[in-house]
Amino acid sequence: MRIITVANQKGGCGKTTTVINLAASLAHFGKKVLIIDMDPQGHVAIGLGVLRADQINQTIYDVLCNTETEQRIDSIIIPIRENIDIAPSNISLSALEQKMAGVDKREELLIKAIFTVYEDYDYILIDTPPNVGLLTFNALRACREVIIPIDSSYFGLHGLGKLLQTVLLLNERLNHSIRIKALSTLVDKRTKVSMDVLQEIRNTFNKNTFKTEINLNVKLKEAVGLGIPVLEYDPNCTGTQDYLNLAEEIISEEKSIEIQTIMKTLQELNDKALEGQLFSPKFVDGGILFTLKNNDIKSLRIAGDFNNWNPSEHDAFVKDDKGVWSKNLHLNPGLYQYKLIIDGQWMPDPNNPIRVQSPMGGSNSVLFVK
Ligand SMILES: Nc1ncnc2c1ncn2[C@@H]1O[C@H](COP(=O)(O)OP(=O)(O)OP(=O)(O)O)[C@@H](O)[C@H]1O
Ligand SMILES: [Mg+2]
Repeated sequence: MRIITVANQKGGCGKTTTVINLAASLAHFGKKVLIIDMDPQGHVAIGLGVLRADQINQTIYDVLCNTETEQRIDSIIIPIRENIDIAPSNISLSALEQKMAGVDKREELLIKAIFTVYEDYDYILIDTPPNVGLLTFNALRACREVIIPIDSSYFGLHGLGKLLQTVLLLNERLNHSIRIKALSTLVDKRTKVSMDVLQEIRNTFNKNTFKTEINLNVKLKEAVGLGIPVLEYDPNCTGTQDYLNLAEEIISEEKSIEIQTIMKTLQELNDKALEGQLFSPKFVDGGILFTLKNNDIKSLRIAGDFNNWNPSEHDAFVKDDKGVWSKNLHLNPGLYQYKLIIDGQWMPDPNNPIRVQSPMGGSNSVLFVK
């Protein structure tokens, strides 16, 4: 599950166009997407032909400002296509900053609201207004990734400072690490200015630039006017192809992000294990100690990458008089997957919270040996 905010304080650089068409492209590849509109202009609902923004009764504003009644975000979510839901906004959202003035932790309203639904989606995309106020701050606080669309005009890179400063502030002061990636938009390769700005974007953001570029394409503008994603308006135009490419590029990052997250959690758990806290599997002198306390079971074995998933009697645990089963294994450094076999039943290790999907069904426990 990834939460991605699309932000840039410069107006008209393609934030909303990116949110709408990236959502449609991710949905096209089978991903379940929620769009949250944090812009009081309410352009997402209009661009997706939901309703006129002023006709929507309940918006994200009702969720964010009703902290006492705890109105849940799912009560305002509108399903609009297979795999695409939206949490819309309208002009009422512009009152949030004033209404919440002086309220403690007012930059955490969105992240708390998302908490109840985030497991239902593969991607949550957040659209933001063209300024860096409380609304954008809430969106940045709620995400781990930011896409910054930069239009390839003379002023494309102008005024990015405040957004970058805000991300830095979140990174440093709140220890909330956010990855930023620039997306070149409204690219017109026939003009020199566009090419110069493209180069400048690459120089500024280096590898934090999407390979995909979004070309200037009038079909994108026309599709918004009709309230549909460009993919539905003209499946063969450049705009459609560009946003499909962007979705593919983003999906292709999933594997490395998943591995990074697993490695980080494993590192934390390993550190805890090394500090001697109770945890299984645990690093001990001479190996890795697996333990499980259960007086009712009759046999316990382990199968994993290290024994080719083919346990022998050497892989059986022994039980002590307190009902604690244990097994010490000597493993070379590496990343391992394994399962416990409890009275003949294969299952993940109940003591180890780190699991991945098993190609054979169910999940495997994961162990990282340094
Ligand atoms: N690649 C593109 N080619 C042609 N027109 C585009 C492209 N991207 C965006 N547009 C058009 O440019 C205008 C501004 O785009 P958009 O609304 O996505 O920008 P925004 O950053 O969300 O603006 P705001 O800051 O006001 O929210 C819209 O009319 C949109 O249809
Ligand atoms: Mg917009």
